[in-house]
Amino acid sequence: MMHTVHSRSACLALLGSVLLLAGCERPPVDTVQRGYRGTGMEQVYNPRIVAAQIPANAMPADTPMVPAGGPPASTVFKNVKVVGDLGVGEFTRLMVSMTAWVAPDQGCSYCHKAGEDFSADTLYTKVVARRMLEMTRHINTDWKTHVADTGVTCYTCHRGQNVPANVWFAPPADTHAAGMVGNRAGQNAPAPSVAYASLPNDPFGAYLDQPNEIRVVGTTALPTGNRQSTKQTEFTYGLMMHMSQSLGVNCTYCHNTRSFASWDASTPQRATAWYGIRMVRDLNLQYLDPLAGVFPANRLGPTGDVPKANCATCHQGAFKPMYGASLLKTHPELAGVRAAVVPGDAASAPAAVSSNSAVLLFAVGSPALAADAAKGLEPLVAALKADPAAKVTVSGYHSASGDLAQNQELAKQRAFAVRDALKAAGIAEDRVVLQKPQSAEANLAGEDPKARRVELAVK
Ligand code: HEC
Ligand code: HEC
Ligand code: HEC
Ligand code: HEC
Repeated sequence: MMHTVHSRSACLALLGSVLLLAGCERPPVDTVQRGYRGTGMEQVYNPRIVAAQIPANAMPADTPMVPAGGPPASTVFKNVKVVGDLGVGEFTRLMVSMTAWVAPDQGCSYCHKAGEDFSADTLYTKVVARRMLEMTRHINTDWKTHVADTGVTCYTCHRGQNVPANVWFAPPADTHAAGMVGNRAGQNAPAPSVAYASLPNDPFGAYLDQPNEIRVVGTTALPTGNRQSTKQTEFTYGLMMHMSQSLGVNCTYCHNTRSFASWDASTPQRATAWYGIRMVRDLNLQYLDPLAGVFPANRLGPTGDVPKANCATCHQGAFKPMYGASLLKTHPELAGVRAAVVPGDAASAPAAVSSNSAVLLFAVGSPALAADAAKGLEPLVAALKADPAAKVTVSGYHSASGDLAQNQELAKQRAFAVRDALKAAGIAEDRVVLQKPQSAEANLAGEDPKARRVELAVK
């Protein structure tokens, strides 16, 4: 009798552990050491999951490149507002590629109503696609801190689909909020957004649309005013679960778990991720949210908000989207405006240059230096080379319109870009003094071109 009870409970225990393990991945798995020995900074890869991912991240076929040049599309066609700097050949190839990347089943008529002139903006998809063209160029020029030269094309997010596989919406109001249990803050409602952990299941709104503080760890040994709560921490963890899952990595891809807060112990990828968070915020705030009036009702979320991007929109389970492959090399037209062709492009044009001071102007929302900016700095560089004791101060400014926190970051990035240009011209970094201006904001209201500048002075 005892024996049967015993073996039955053993059976149950065995069954229980089999059920528990069913949630785990079957060995063998590969591990890759990424930090010092003993820090536990390892990546665990399941070779079968990786193998299944590879075809999904393969490069699609591409049409052959056509030479740039010829009359610009803006003069040949009637209603080209964003990519008017392209020659007609390049423009037409881009239309063919966009069709393959976003609407292979529908063809040109997904954005151009059949029977109508191509210049008409009748379909919402064309209006969205125009903004997407601007967004793609913006990512590739202004967010090199994240996307480097790999960059993105429409394919990175869309992969041949009208709608990218990964978008997010604000969740519907919590129906429990009025009851006795109070607002659950999205917890105990397992959702794929946080890898089915019992964490707040909307880690996106607070961090990827709004600029809320992600860091929660106190910076002093004793509590001295760190007001971050357990709930805040759970939101941070929710976001971290999303980031890890989107990239197909463990926490230790970015952190040394001895201290999640410490940057010194973190990997360089954590810094890339930091910029990634700011980039996604920027894309949602500046590009997707403003499309609210353009999308039809069937594309909106349960609370009427527009579809938005997160890390998975581009990464789709890979540590770099498409494991680092990119179509940008064969689509340089998406890497930025051809400054030479577009008249009136003010991207970091030197406004005033002399041997002891200079002012460089920048395009709206851009910290990018024009290719010819170095030329504009020549007199100043010559003066610095002639007097090795001299130093140069560099101060970044921004215009008054837009989000202040983002603008301040922009002003800083502009100053960094100029410092890097000086370094490239052979001026040692310790001679370049980055000087935060008293007020980086122009006194003038709105989008004054003179406000978006970097000032240099030889001292
Ligand atoms: C995903 C949406 C999309 C698809 C698919 C698409 N286009 Fe376009 N097309 C646009 C957008 C957006 C513009 C305007 C670009 C701008 O303003 O810079 C445009 C503009 C044009 C124009 C210029 C019309 C004018 O006079 O202003 C032509 C011609 C054109 N497309 C041809 C095509 C052809 C041919 C195809 C199919 C091979 C195609 N497009 C597929 C979005 C699309
Ligand atoms: C960073 C990711 C990203 C990139 C890059 C991107 N898109 Fe999108 N696209 C989105 C998101 C997110 C949506 C909103 C999804 C939805 O409509 O539900 C969207 C929607 C669209 C739509 C509307 C589709 C529909 O049926 O509602 C079109 C058209 C489109 N994109 C075209 C383009 C084109 C053309 C490019 C390249 C020039 C491009 N996209 C690049 C993320 C991206
Ligand atoms: C792709 C890189 C990346 C991965 C993977 C990642 N993190 Fe993070 N983590 C960051 C970045 C970047 C920040 C800082 C965000 C900021 O300051 O805006 C951060 C911040 C944090 C913080 C707050 C630290 C503080 O100063 O208060 C905690 C806690 C944390 N991560 C935990 C985790 C956990 C747990 C995981 C795994 C589930 C994880 N992270 C995975 C990049 C990553
Ligand atoms: C617009 C598309 C896009 C979005 C959205 C995006 N990334 Fe990336 N990310 C890229 C590209 C492209 C690269 C490759 C850059 C390179 O080659 O160095 C990259 C690289 C990275 C890397 C470096 C990987 C490595 O091994 O060097 C990390 C970490 C990363 N992304 C984290 C994130 C996080 C976290 C988010 C969300 C907050 C995010 N990304 C959102 C496009 C994107």
